[in-house]
This record gives sequence, structure tokens and C-alpha cells, in this order.
Amino acid sequence: MNAKVADLLAAQVNKEFYSAYLYLGISKYFSQNDLPGFASWYRAQAAEEQEHALKIYDYLLDNDQDVPLTAIEEASPKFKTILDAVKEADKHEHYITEEINKIYDAAVSEKDYRTQLFLNWFITEQVEEERNSRDMITKVQMLGDKPKNLYLLDKDLSARK
Ligand SMILES: [Fe+2]
Repeated sequence: MNAKVADLLAAQVNKEFYSAYLYLGISKYFSQNDLPGFASWYRAQAAEEQEHALKIYDYLLDNDQDVPLTAIEEASPKFKTILDAVKEADKHEHYITEEINKIYDAAVSEKDYRTQLFLNWFITEQVEEERNSRDMITKVQMLGDKPKNLYLLDKDLSARK
């Protein structure tokens, strides 16, 4: 595998683990603000990000590449409002989309066909991730300012496994 593509993929393993950390930070904010449904939704999201990291990790090992397990940046997000917290997740997903696209660009210019195929899954996944984070902003904007509605939304979010 091309060294540049391998380096970008290895860096993405770290970024996906950081995503898990960030989502755990968001989940913690909701736990500490008595919204267990939101907390469990973001905790499930954190678990999904770890799976993303391991998917890339496995792909690198399958291709006989090393994966340096570099330090994961601290995530201690602070939010003033619920809307701030869900917007942070949305911002982060757009950043991740850009990073995936950069790896794809490198795979195209290096004629790395297998990595292009591998990244298809992530490109599709980002459509769903952006959609979910955008929907969450809409829900909070529509329902978040009335305690009763917020309570019902929180209950609704607790349904995610
Ligand atoms: Fe991810």
C-alpha cells in the first residue's frame, strides 16, 4: 500500500477513537443534566465510533501495514445549552466527512483501488451520520424549549440500542 494513504488511514483510526471520546463527553454532559435518553443515544454513538476505528485498524493490518496507536486527544467539551451540545456533534461529523474525503482523494491519486472500495462504506456512513446530527438539531430546536416536550424527546431517544 502507498505510504501516504496508509499514514492517512492510520491517522483516521486515531480520529475515529477521538470521535468516540467526544461523543462520550457529549453523553456525559447529558447524564449530568438529567437527560438519560440523550446520554444513552450519544453513548451508543461513541460505541459506533470505536467500531469505525477498528474497521480501519483491521483494514490496515489486513494489508500488512502497521497501525501506530498514538495518543488520543483529550475531549472535555463544555456546553451552555443542549443545542450547543448537539451542534458540536454535527460540526464534528462534517469535519470527519472532510477527512474521509481527503483519504479518498489520496487513494484516487495513488491509484489505490482497494482503498477506494474500502472507503465507500465510510462515505455512505457519513451521509447517515450527517443526517442524524442534523435531525437532532431540528428536534432540539422544535421541542427543546418546553420541559414537557424535552422530557418526551429524551424518552424517545432512549429507544436507540
Ligand atoms: Fe465515524
